[in-house]
Amino acid sequence: MNLDSRIDSDFLVIGGGIAGLIFAIKAAEIGSVTVLTKAASDEANTSYAQGGIASVWSVDDSFESHIEDTLRAGAGLCDRTAVETIVRDGPDAVRDLIAFGANFTRIEGGGEDEYDLGREGGHSHRRVLHAQDLTGREIMRALGEAARARPNIRVLENHVAVDLLIARTAGGAAQCWGAYALEKSSRSVRKIVARTTLLATGGAGKVYLYTTNPEIASGDGVAIAYRAGAPIANMEFYQFHPTCLYHPAAKSFLISEALRGEGAILRLLDGTPFMKRYHPDAELAPRDVVARAIDSEMKRLGLDCVHLDISHRDPAYIRARFPNIYQRCLGYGFDLTAGPIPVVPAAHYMCGGVMTDLNARTPIARLYAAGEAAMTGLHGANRLASNSLLEAAVMGRRAFADARLQLAHDEGAPPAFPEWNPGAAIQSEQRVLITQSWDEIRRLMWNYVGIVRGDRRLERALRRIQMLREEIHSYYWDHLLDSDLIELRNLATVAELVVRCAMARKESRGLHYTIDYPERDDARCLRNTILRRDG
Ligand code: FAD
Ligand code: SIN
Repeated sequence: MNLDSRIDSDFLVIGGGIAGLIFAIKAAEIGSVTVLTKAASDEANTSYAQGGIASVWSVDDSFESHIEDTLRAGAGLCDRTAVETIVRDGPDAVRDLIAFGANFTRIEGGGEDEYDLGREGGHSHRRVLHAQDLTGREIMRALGEAARARPNIRVLENHVAVDLLIARTAGGAAQCWGAYALEKSSRSVRKIVARTTLLATGGAGKVYLYTTNPEIASGDGVAIAYRAGAPIANMEFYQFHPTCLYHPAAKSFLISEALRGEGAILRLLDGTPFMKRYHPDAELAPRDVVARAIDSEMKRLGLDCVHLDISHRDPAYIRARFPNIYQRCLGYGFDLTAGPIPVVPAAHYMCGGVMTDLNARTPIARLYAAGEAAMTGLHGANRLASNSLLEAAVMGRRAFADARLQLAHDEGAPPAFPEWNPGAAIQSEQRVLITQSWDEIRRLMWNYVGIVRGDRRLERALRRIQMLREEIHSYYWDHLLDSDLIELRNLATVAELVVRCAMARKESRGLHYTIDYPERDDARCLRNTILRRDG
């Protein structure tokens, strides 16, 4: 295959999930857009979303209520302005999705604008728009079609962004002019030059051994931004979803919180419900509380899993409301309508990320970040269910609105960047060096930096990760690039960022629980944890 080694585009969008595609579709109105996706274009966290997108939609609901619920879940660390802005922009972002063709489940016999609203933990009202239990797949279908219908958008699948093209102004300020990206099958590195770049690379679940996330979620955007000098914040707040199917072949298949929203009960293996002992809202307590409760019961009783039971609801309702989950469970031998199913927690969502303002700007000029890769201040110490699709949709739109204004008076020309130079790098022949480091990172993150942490575990984790990072660093520069090597380098960086943020927080708050500081400490710790490469 003969590929151009250089591509010029007005906009470069790294990531083709909900945040990247919304931005791209809008940007195509005013310029050429290149979208990079690391694997096939529909392989993104967005495609796996089940529960839905939270937004104030019913007349019984209010912005104030959604704002208060989000702030409560965030355990004192949300940025109120971010929460207010994103919640209030929600309905417009949802209307955009509908205009791009997303079909959310409607109320039977209801009017044009009447959608079935789901309920999830921490929400005081029904406000989750969904497409049965395949919301993400429907959103990706609609956005994918809208993007393909726009000739200004070029989607490059199987292109892995490696690093940003960063230049310095005369005054020393950093500016981003695109990125180097590896085309996976030819293993050639292309230079993509753009006036505006959006990082929309999603989460980093793959840094943990067990995760609900697909393979693409290795935190590349965070690692790339960190290397470029952008501030990264609140990485200690990694959210564990309480309920994934416990089955060796199920790869942490998610059992949506919407089941608990519709009455599913968590039980011990003898049938005893236990959530009331942990929180007055029981199964609908915030996600951190539910995940910790399950973890604590499993450790107390030496269990491999707990049970989730919705079999008291009408079987026809269960099959209609959760067709995908019902079928997938049946495939593993569990009938949701007939009895409880085994569940365990798994790593799910990265609340931290690249710090941005409410226009999705990073401190690096021409570089934006949106979606799960970014940290806007919406989630604080714990994300409320279904607030991430909301944030990604709103911030994708806001990033474009700001970029359009910036470009209106942008006359700068891109400086010259060299072609990618592999130097004396050689073909990697020892895959085991990559796979071993990969396993070590994921396992030690799971064991030492999981739902419950402690100083000694974190110190051990840091020592080991730093040693692995040194090894990976020399291996990386000695060998020709491939996507596994790029991912491994990024995973190691993200793991270290999570550990360093966790070590800096000497209290327990939201998703960060440490046995050495079990209480929340507002007097000393009510602030974001921010890391930069230059300290
Ligand atoms: P993603 O959708 O993850 O897209 C990331 C994109 O970046 C992909 O195209 C990927 O290929 C690309 N990429 C990554 N690295 C690179 C690289 N180096 N080079 C090039 N491209 C790259 N949230 C909710 O609000 N409601 C839900 O019901 C819900 N359910 C969920 C269920 C599951 C199983 C999972 C995993 C998540 C769920 N979430 C839910 C979270 C939500 O889906 C994600 O936070 C959101 O979809 C992230 O969107 P995004 O656009 O930021 O990134
Ligand atoms: C779910 O459906 O439980 C996932 C919702 C979310 O992560 O927001």
